[in-house]
Amino acid sequence: MHDYTGKAGLITGAGSGIGRAIALAFAQAGGRVVVADIDSRGGEETVRLIHEAGGQASFQRCDVSLAADVEALINTVLANYGTLDFAINNAAVELEKTALTEVPEAIYDRIMAVNVKGVFFCLQEQIRQMARQGQGAIVNIASVNAHRPQYHQSVYTASKHAVLGLTRNAAIEAAAAGVRINAICPGAIETPMLEASLDQANLPRQDVIERMSLNGRFGRPHDIAQAALWLCSEDASFTYGHALAVDGGYLAR
Ligand SMILES: NC(=O)c1ccc[n+]([C@@H]2O[C@H](COP(=O)([O-])OP(=O)(O)OC[C@H]3O[C@@H](n4cnc5c(N)ncnc54)[C@H](O)[C@@H]3O)[C@@H](O)[C@H]2O)c1
Repeated sequence: MHDYTGKAGLITGAGSGIGRAIALAFAQAGGRVVVADIDSRGGEETVRLIHEAGGQASFQRCDVSLAADVEALINTVLANYGTLDFAINNAAVELEKTALTEVPEAIYDRIMAVNVKGVFFCLQEQIRQMARQGQGAIVNIASVNAHRPQYHQSVYTASKHAVLGLTRNAAIEAAAAGVRINAICPGAIETPMLEASLDQANLPRQDVIERMSLNGRFGRPHDIAQAALWLCSEDASFTYGHALAVDGGYLAR
């Protein structure tokens, strides 16, 4: 059990799925959490769930593809809680429905703006603040797509390769300032994003489970949250620039 009492941080894309589970887990471990999302309804619901469980949280609407929103987000964390000890850059979109040859430019631009530029803006602001403090830990949520392609996800796959590139480069640059940066590569995790791709693929659910995991189930958001808690903790103090697969063994096969 990790103890985040006295610490504070933010989770982007925390209005749904994996981000919500991570926010709940940090709050349950005693951390004060700013829930950031472009979707106010989902974000407010996450805060409600945290309060209901006795935790501390507030919501900040933020489109991570906008530098001004990300700057405002960091300012909110500092105004509310006075410190930024952990940050989970989780917000992303998976908008493709076709082969690469059919992907419209606008879809390419939006995926890259949220998944890559959003992580870039977040890293810039977070590293600046954590370097001022002399400590902090950041986790970027990538994907198994950062290692292995999937049909009809060319731009998403490229964006997740870029997230690992940003993670590793930022990790070597920020280490001297006391900031540790790592990534998690989730496999198939039961969230609205996964449900949308399953609907689109129109394949029997059990076939997808067998292809995507070694233990007969999809991953749960909780599985990713536990990895994030560990990576941001002192227990992971020798871990830098790592891409931790939490994927039911998908990449091992
Ligand atoms: N679910 C999976 O199987 C899976 C697998 C690998 C990686 N991932 C990654 O995990 C992360 C979370 O995915 P999820 O499955 O929980 O997805 P989700 O769609 O359930 O949640 C994503 C959240 O991000 C928010 N968001 C979207 N654009 C945003 C923006 N511009 N600014 C701020 N917030 C924004 C959405 O409103 C939503 O609340 C993503 O980075 C995703 O790529 C998911």
